Amino acid sequence: TNESVNTNQHLYEIMNEASNFYQYNLFNSVSGERVLEYLSNRKLSNETIKHFELGFSPKEKDLLYQFLKSKGYSVSDMINLGLVKQSNDGTYYDLFTNRLMFPITNSFGKTIAFSGRTLDKNDKVKYVNSPETVIFKKGETVYHLAEAGLDIRKKKFVMLYEGFFDVISPYQAGFTNGVATMGTALTINQARLIKKTVDKVIVAYDGDSAGQKAIISAIPVLLNAGLIVEVLKIPDKKDPDDYIKEYGSEAYQNLLSNNVQDPYQYQYELYRENLDLNNSNDIKTFQANVTRMLQNASPAIVSLYTKRIADELRINEKDVK
Ligand code: GTP
Ligand code: MN
Ligand code: MN
Ligand code: MN
Ligand code: MN
Repeated sequence: TNESVNTNQHLYEIMNEASNFYQYNLFNSVSGERVLEYLSNRKLSNETIKHFELGFSPKEKDLLYQFLKSKGYSVSDMINLGLVKQSNDGTYYDLFTNRLMFPITNSFGKTIAFSGRTLDKNDKVKYVNSPETVIFKKGETVYHLAEAGLDIRKKKFVMLYEGFFDVISPYQAGFTNGVATMGTALTINQARLIKKTVDKVIVAYDGDSAGQKAIISAIPVLLNAGLIVEVLKIPDKKDPDDYIKEYGSEAYQNLLSNNVQDPYQYQYELYRENLDLNNSNDIKTFQANVTRMLQNASPAIVSLYTKRIADELRINEKDVK
């Protein structure tokens, strides 16, 4: 409602102040220099860093808290936004310290959350996300969708990635129509948000086995939202960011031209690769997978795969059914 938008206004303002604080700190502090070096090693230009409004949360425990307090914001708002926490001794500390900061926006482009990446290889937690808040519902948020909206409409499809850097590297290479979920399984609400912008999605998750599993679970969700779905297969277990860094943007364009499959084809090949026809357990798994894949498929698609299985496995069609 209009009322809740108005009462949340100051929360968006605080998030914007926090984002500006992190950005300023990336470019204007001694420890920020190391982070800029990290980003430059990952081949990101200053222009790209600015487009994505990347920042750096200082090492000190409470500099954001001090900054927001000096601007007159209330501690309870900072806590409710997940920016600040209170420790047992009553003092306040920042949730994000010593991390590369990615601001996450809502469909109006307003910052509603952050994700912070560690730069320390020994840190067990690679990314820390803001908790759910009054203005941030993770399952209803798609990273970079607001910013990429125009390009997505112009290109008539969206690229859906797993990670922040998989949106950012392709963006810098000219593939500006990328968005990402934030490490959790794609929700129907996220798929519907995408469908509001465009009709077609190319899923470009990581090429490792975790990515394959995530593709398999994302496909029915995207189809349920009424989207046309294709899958980009990234070779060598790489993710799109790794791939572009290693082989360049022309190679990535070639992948997009030659390595895209429809969702049934993609799933079928994956299941077929893992099937040993002499192993009855494999056959059972294959049956279960194909049955699930065809659950909501049209009769034409069911018939196509029935024939294909009959041919490839030398079973008569009646038995396949
Ligand atoms: P880089 O290593 O920086 O290139 O990140 P990545 O995006 O390749 O990470 P990865 O493939 O491991 O994970 C994909 C996405 O899952 C990330 O972009 C995050 O959004 C999320 N993710 C990864 N690790 C964590 C974690 O430790 N905690 C949380 N909450 N999310 C994570
Ligand atoms: Mn800003
Ligand atoms: Mn991964
Ligand atoms: Mn990855
Ligand atoms: Mn990566």
